[in-house]
Amino acid sequence: MKHIILIGFMGSGKSTLGKKLSGEFELPFVDMDEYIERKEGRTISTIFAEDGEAYFRSLETEVLEELLGSDEKKIVSLGGGTPLRAENRELMKQGGYSIFLKVDPEEAYNRLKGDTHRPLLQVENPRERICDLLGIRNPVYEGAADYVLSEQKKSVDEIMTELIKIVRSNPI
Ligand code: S3P
Repeated sequence: MKHIILIGFMGSGKSTLGKKLSGEFELPFVDMDEYIERKEGRTISTIFAEDGEAYFRSLETEVLEELLGSDEKKIVSLGGGTPLRAENRELMKQGGYSIFLKVDPEEAYNRLKGDTHRPLLQVENPRERICDLLGIRNPVYEGAADYVLSEQKKSVDEIMTELIKIVRSNPI
């Protein structure tokens, strides 16, 4: 096992929890979206606007391969759409184990409303978009994950305690 991979919908706390986990286990942490933005020298929104979603998705696969292919053990948080490609799920399986941070639609909406940085949510009815996307994605996340951590009715501290337990019993 090389890497610990955090997956889940936008707003599920992948980056925040990944950073905390990184401090707890003294492992490097990489947020894939931030990594892509640094590599490209432009924001995700700009990449979508200038080159379209298909281009962004191919960048994701390229970067995933790079990050998970490296020998340096780390915690990686993926973009919300990354596990949707079969090719990416294969890379995930090879690269370590995945923890799905499962958020319910209403909570996701509360965390994401007013967000201007996620191109997929810049629509008239983001609540409906979130419900639709979650309906499609939750089964994919579940199928791709080695562990499912439901965030429902839990504080950040409670979620962290569960995450730490998973990582302690699965050292990399
Ligand atoms: C996306 C999620 C975003 C980012 C892009 C597309 C998605 O990442 O990769 O806006 O398809 O769900 P976060 O999950 O980190 O917000």
